[in-house]
Amino acid sequence: MPRSLPETPAHRPAREALLDRCFGPARHRKTCELLRRDRNPASGLAFSLLEGESLIGTLRLWHVTAGSAGPALLLGPVAVTPERQSQGLGALLMRHGLAEAERLGHGAILLVGDAPYYTRFGFSRSLTEGLAMPGPVELERFLGLELLSGSLTGARGIVSASGPVESQPDVAAIAALHSSFPMERHSNPTHASAR
Ligand SMILES: CC(C)(COP(=O)(O)OP(=O)(O)OC[C@H]1O[C@@H](n2cnc3c(N)ncnc32)[C@H](O)[C@@H]1OP(=O)(O)O)[C@@H](O)C(=O)NCCC(=O)NCCS
Repeated sequence: MPRSLPETPAHRPAREALLDRCFGPARHRKTCELLRRDRNPASGLAFSLLEGESLIGTLRLWHVTAGSAGPALLLGPVAVTPERQSQGLGALLMRHGLAEAERLGHGAILLVGDAPYYTRFGFSRSLTEGLAMPGPVELERFLGLELLSGSLTGARGIVSASGPVESQPDVAAIAALHSSFPMERHSNPTHASAR
């Protein structure tokens, strides 16, 4: 039986390949991506679905500010490898992610996705009616879930990113390291034989 486990850096290449298969290149242009770009997922809320050594599903949640309602999570992307869809694995990932978010004390979750899928987990459009995303979304797909009752009541305003910024490589330090070593010389066999 596949298991939902904390995502690790070793899972990332397989996760990227899975997301490319499930969503294609358009995934990088989604409005939700504006809230995730250069950020880390919320602590303890990035999951990989593993079957043996194979990654067959992924789910992440991110810190956002839900306008006047304050701190919330943004859920997504969630994906299950096409060969294993419709076997309850998406639900397994979702229920595990929602339970962990609740256990960690989070009050509300937002997402942009297909209502016919997410309403089964308690998401509803009525909770986000006073909120706006920072870019275009189909409004009927902008949904909310309260883990703490009342956490989205009367929420107004624009959703903004609030997660920790991803640490970037220290370019200056890398350049300094390179300059402290002599340039590697490449031998050119063609020139060598012509000498
Ligand atoms: C959405 C996704 C994660 C669901 O995972 P899954 O393992 O297939 O889901 P489950 O097995 O738990 O549930 C399957 C049920 O959800 C339904 N379902 C799946 N995707 C759906 C969608 N986008 N809209 C409505 N219903 C959907 C199936 O028809 C099936 O219905 P049934 O139980 O009545 O037969 C998976 O289909 C997937 O990765 N899709 C491609 C990526 C994607 O669209 N991600 C979500 C963005 S909104």
